[in-house]
Amino acid sequence: MIPTGRKKRRFVQDKFVSVSKKYDLLNGLLSCYIDHYWRWRTARELDEFKEGPILDICAGTLPLSLEIVRQAARPVAAVDFCYEMLHYGTSRIKGKEAEYISPICGDGENLPLSDQRFHGITVAFGVRNLSRVEQGLREMLRVLLPGGKLLILEFSRPKNPLISPIYRLYLHKFLPFMAGIISGDREAYHYLAESIQGFYEPEVLAEMMRDLGFREVKYRPMTMGIVTLYTGRK
Ligand SMILES: C[S@@+](CC[C@H](N)C(=O)[O-])C[C@H]1O[C@@H](n2cnc3c(N)ncnc32)[C@H](O)[C@@H]1O
Repeated sequence: MIPTGRKKRRFVQDKFVSVSKKYDLLNGLLSCYIDHYWRWRTARELDEFKEGPILDICAGTLPLSLEIVRQAARPVAAVDFCYEMLHYGTSRIKGKEAEYISPICGDGENLPLSDQRFHGITVAFGVRNLSRVEQGLREMLRVLLPGGKLLILEFSRPKNPLISPIYRLYLHKFLPFMAGIISGDREAYHYLAESIQGFYEPEVLAEMMRDLGFREVKYRPMTMGIVTLYTGRK
């Protein structure tokens, strides 16, 4: 059972501390490296904001922040509440890219940033981990400039009746087993499976975004619906 409220916050933080050094390796292996394409596709949605600044929330080891800077050299503020994830990511960035990325250890549900500062906000595989999703979305709306764009990349569940049972088997059996061996923390990957299983249907999250004041809200499933990319504008 996934803990809720404050307990979930603490639990999530502890799990990411535990897997921080193996996070990138496992992401690549477990997704057959398609995760690079998902982030590339997400960053492409920011083409209209070549100058930035962009905010990457739940930035973790900075894979999406890096992709954003690679597509166009622009300032990216990278927020995560797990110091170890940020620290590990930062230690591996070299050269020019490091100049554009500012890591900030902070809470996505209570951003340590002033109102209306960013042209674009990205959250990759982070919204599902928030203990209060609505509060996180409110904060995103607050720090976005009018006309600014929010991009949420998140796991979803394939709808195809042939794929769906295979995916469930992979998620609940193979993934915790393999990732448990490599990371040494099987519980972290049981949590991943459960949190994907228990997350909102895409239409529900999209409706939540609309209710909170985002406009032009759209979502598109990718890779048979294993992930969904949501877009919205302030
Ligand atoms: C699955 S990782 C995603 C990392 C990265 N965005 C990526 O594309 O791989 C989720 C990250 O969200 C962070 N996180 C979860 N809840 C958070 C919160 N309330 N505030 C800030 N970061 C949070 C975790 O520490 C973790 O690094």
